[in-house]
Formats: sequence, C-alpha cells, structure tokens
Amino acid sequence: MSGECPVRHDFQMLEQSFVKDPYATCPAVQESPVFWSSDLGCYVVTRYDDVQRVLSDHELFSNAATNVPVTPINEEAQRVLDESEVWFRPNLTNADAPRHTMVRRWVADAMSPRRIRALEPGVRAWASTKVDEMVAKGRADIYAELCFPLPAITGFTLLGFPPEDVEQLKSWCDRRVVLTYGRATGAEQVEVAENVAAFWRYTNEFAQSRIDDPRDDLTSDIIKHHLADPEEFSLRDVSAVLFGLSIAAHETTTNLMTNGVRQLLAHREQWEALVADPTLIPNTIEECLRFDGPVIAWRRRATADVDVSGTVIPKDSVVLMLLYSANHDPRRFDDAGSFDIRRPEARYHLTFGKGTHFCAGAPMARMEMKILLENLIEKAPGMRLVEDQALEFIPNISQRGPHGLVVDFEPALTHA
Ligand code: HEM
Repeated sequence: MSGECPVRHDFQMLEQSFVKDPYATCPAVQESPVFWSSDLGCYVVTRYDDVQRVLSDHELFSNAATNVPVTPINEEAQRVLDESEVWFRPNLTNADAPRHTMVRRWVADAMSPRRIRALEPGVRAWASTKVDEMVAKGRADIYAELCFPLPAITGFTLLGFPPEDVEQLKSWCDRRVVLTYGRATGAEQVEVAENVAAFWRYTNEFAQSRIDDPRDDLTSDIIKHHLADPEEFSLRDVSAVLFGLSIAAHETTTNLMTNGVRQLLAHREQWEALVADPTLIPNTIEECLRFDGPVIAWRRRATADVDVSGTVIPKDSVVLMLLYSANHDPRRFDDAGSFDIRRPEARYHLTFGKGTHFCAGAPMARMEMKILLENLIEKAPGMRLVEDQALEFIPNISQRGPHGLVVDFEPALTHA
C-alpha cells in the first residue's frame, strides 16, 4: 500500500446501509480520487476521469481480478464446485489480450444484430402478455413477474436453451452474486455453490447436445470454434463462456429494469413526461443507467506500479472502480444527483464499462428495456409505487437492484 494513499475504514460496501443508498456516500468518497479500503483490502478509484482511464488502459490494468471472490470460498463450497469440475479459465470478462481478443470476436459475431433483432418479437409478445396480466390484477411485484423473468428468458433463448428449462435455470441463479461479489455465510456459500454446479453441469450437457445437433443459436456458433481447435478451445471453455454469458445477460438487465421503473415512478414528473412523449425512451434508458445503474463497481488489477491522480497503486493490486460514483461525479455531470430523462450527456455514463471489454450485450439490454417501457407507458400510464414498501438488496460489491418492487396498476383507469 502506498504511503500517501488515504485509508478509509468507513467504506463498507457490504453493509445494508450502503446497498440501500450507495449514492449517499458520493461526496465523502469523491474527496479522494483514490483510497485504500481497509474492509475490502483493495484500492478504490472514485472519480469519472480516473475510472474511465482504468477501464480503458488495458496495458496497465488487467481484467484478471474481475471475478475473484471477495470472500474466500470455504472448503465445503469448494468441494461442491470441484466435484462438478467447475472451472473458469479466463476467456472473456476475466481474460486479457490476446485470448480475450479472440473469444470476444467469436462472441460478438454470435451476438450479431440479426440475432438480437430475431429475439425482439418474442420479447415483445412475452412482455405484452405479462403487463396485461399485471394490469388486470391491479397490484403486482413487477420485479418477480416481469423484470426478473424477461431478461432470463431472452438471454437463455439467445444461448439456445429450450423454454421448458427456463424455470429450472432461473432457480439456479437465485442469490448467485453473493458467491463472487458478496460476503456469504458458510451455509449460504454451499447452497449457492450447489446451484452454480448444477448450472455448470447443465451448460456442459447442453454444449455437448449442440455438437451432436447444431442449430441457429449462439451456442452452436461458439461450438464451431471448439470443433476447429479442441486443444485451444476445449468443451469446458465453451461451458465457461456460456456460463459467463448467462450471468452477464440476466441479473444486470433485471436490475436495470427494476431500478429504472423505481426511479421513474419515484420522480413522478419524469414518468409523466415520458408517458406524454415516448420519443424520450432512448435517453431515459441512458439516464436510468447513469442515475441508478445495475452495476455499481467493477475490478481490474494493476500490471505495474501506476500513478492515478497522484497516488501510486503498486503492481498486482486489485483496483475497484466505483461506477456509481463516477456516474454521479459533479466534475462530469451537471447537477449529477438529479434524475433528468432529458439530460443531454446521460449516455456518457460508465455503467457498461469502457474500452475493449465494453459490454457486448449493451444493444440487447437497451432493446429489452425499451420494450418494457413501451409496454408500461401504453398499458399502465397510471401505475404507482406502493408506498413505504421495504426493499431488499443483496449486499455485494457489483450488482445492485431491489429483489421485489410492488406496483399498483390502477386497472379501472388504464382499461376504462
Ligand atoms: C443493463 C445491463 C447490463 C449492464 C449494466 C452490463 C454491464 C457490463 C459491464 C460493466 C461489463 C464489463 C465491462 C468492462 O470490463 O469494461 C460487461 C461486460 C460484458 N457484458 Fe454486460 N451488461 C449488461 C447486459 C448484458 C447482456 C444482456 C449481455 C449478453 C447477452 C451482456 C454481455 C456481456 C459480455 C459478454 C461482457 C464481457 C465483454 C468483454 O469482456 O469483452 N451484458 N457488461
């Protein structure tokens, strides 16, 4: 740890008080561009320009630290993972060039605009039916009924997983983030590890089935690279990519939707402006990503001693970039703490990352969110948050969104 680097003991990302409102910490954390967190044992970068630099300087900052568990995995959970041979060789989010460059190109090709467009009618039909059902009921948990299943169904369809498996796959995803990004208890680690192992076995078997019977889906495209060079890209590499994609495609977009609906309804005048003018939807999505983003922080590792705004971060240190703080940095965004769907610079948020690792699924997430908002505006313009509901957030250093959001749909008004 560098001698001059400020140390913060009060930065407690895994406390309930933090996950309920990380934004309250912005003024304090932004006092120093870089500090050492005694709780997490890593360097923390807080301001927009520095976060942008760390994200995009792939020479000095490696992706190797991205998925390292915050809390060491206990023996029993590790045994569960080992028995199923869960094994994540760096391929994509946690890989550097040249391997990342190769696999990223394959994934980008397999997520072609044609393939994303082909998903759209299914997403639209599913969302429309679901919103009709919720409106008819009058009150519903929009997280449980819409925001959680929609990205799961969309992401799993992209990979080629059959619709009849979706319920099972969704159940294996529950609380998955705590194993990598949280401080799970011993029993919780084992429970999540069992679900991770089950999901892993599923992706292995599914990859094998696509070797025998290729289709027009992402998995079949990725398998072609395995068949071309099984040594360089093994079947377990295929599984690792599928597993990573299923995580990347799911919780993130769920949280974009739930956080976005919550903020729009909490800022009633913004919701009404959107209902009155749906052409604001694209910029609204960017402001939702900036103001209350689904990914609040991300990690890299320094490959050499590196100076960040006057603090030397030593080689091999883990660097945590506070995306939420960068997105609320008053040096970059005027009146950064205000939610404004007309904000001209909203799209400069860092919620999808930056550089060669920039989120490969950004067009898909935006497409899903657009369809969700179009449906809600059309069918439930009078919807309101149920007041005083207790929101549950799972403490972890990366993904953030409430697990439950109850909304009144006023069926009599909307279906008059
Ligand atoms: C609102 C939703 C989403 C958010 C906020 C989000 C955020 C992110 C972030 C922060 C990264 C890391 C970027 C970096 O290291 O610089 C990332 C990478 C990635 N995301 Fe997303 N993501 C979302 C949705 C999706 C979806 C729907 C998919 C796929 C269907 C997806 C696929 C990926 C992939 C494959 C990567 C790895 C890219 C690479 O390392 O080259 N994401 N995402």
